[in-house]
Amino acid sequence: MSKTGIFYGSSGGNTQEIAKQIASKLGVTSENIHDVASVKANDLAPYDVLLFGTSTWGLGDLQDDWEDFIRVLPAADLSDKKVALFGCGDSSTYSDTFCDAMGKIYQAIKGRTTIIGFTDTSGYSFDTSESVIDNQFVGLAIDEDNESNLSEARINNWIEKIKSVI
Ligand SMILES: Cc1cc2nc3c(=O)[nH]c(=O)nc-3n(C[C@H](O)[C@H](O)[C@H](O)COP(=O)(O)O)c2cc1C
Repeated sequence: MSKTGIFYGSSGGNTQEIAKQIASKLGVTSENIHDVASVKANDLAPYDVLLFGTSTWGLGDLQDDWEDFIRVLPAADLSDKKVALFGCGDSSTYSDTFCDAMGKIYQAIKGRTTIIGFTDTSGYSFDTSESVIDNQFVGLAIDEDNESNLSEARINNWIEKIKSVI
């Protein structure tokens, strides 16, 4: 059976909460949920499947702890792993940079691993996002600020999708 690790960065707690919900639905135990504020590249090694979660800050910036962690990613061997991305953003106030940080992680790892869990943009309302490639989000986009009522269904759909390939 594949071993899954969740690595998240969260400044206000939303992405952490989503990470916990994903973990509980996937049966990932708490010791396999990691805050990127306190991890090293080596901590990725034991896992076959990595779920990377970030919120977006500034105008399309990575969450602070991810700003540091993304610099250690080049030292990690991701070649035999599968990676799925999730992100929290605000599609109303930050409609031009919605969940951009998820797209930044995507750009940092693409070509070095197998990225799974792309999702449809239908049902979202925003102008532009770096996390959209070929009309799909590169992962799970969550908007706890405006659409928290949709989060659980979005998580469930995404989990069904990634479960079939991990
Ligand atoms: C100052 C500030 C800047 C933000 N910038 C963006 C942004 O550029 N794009 C976006 O989608 N969300 C943006 N957000 C919204 C956060 O990403 C959103 O509230 C998220 O749920 C926070 O997650 P966290 O609590 O895990 O850090 C911003 C929020 C604040 C307060």
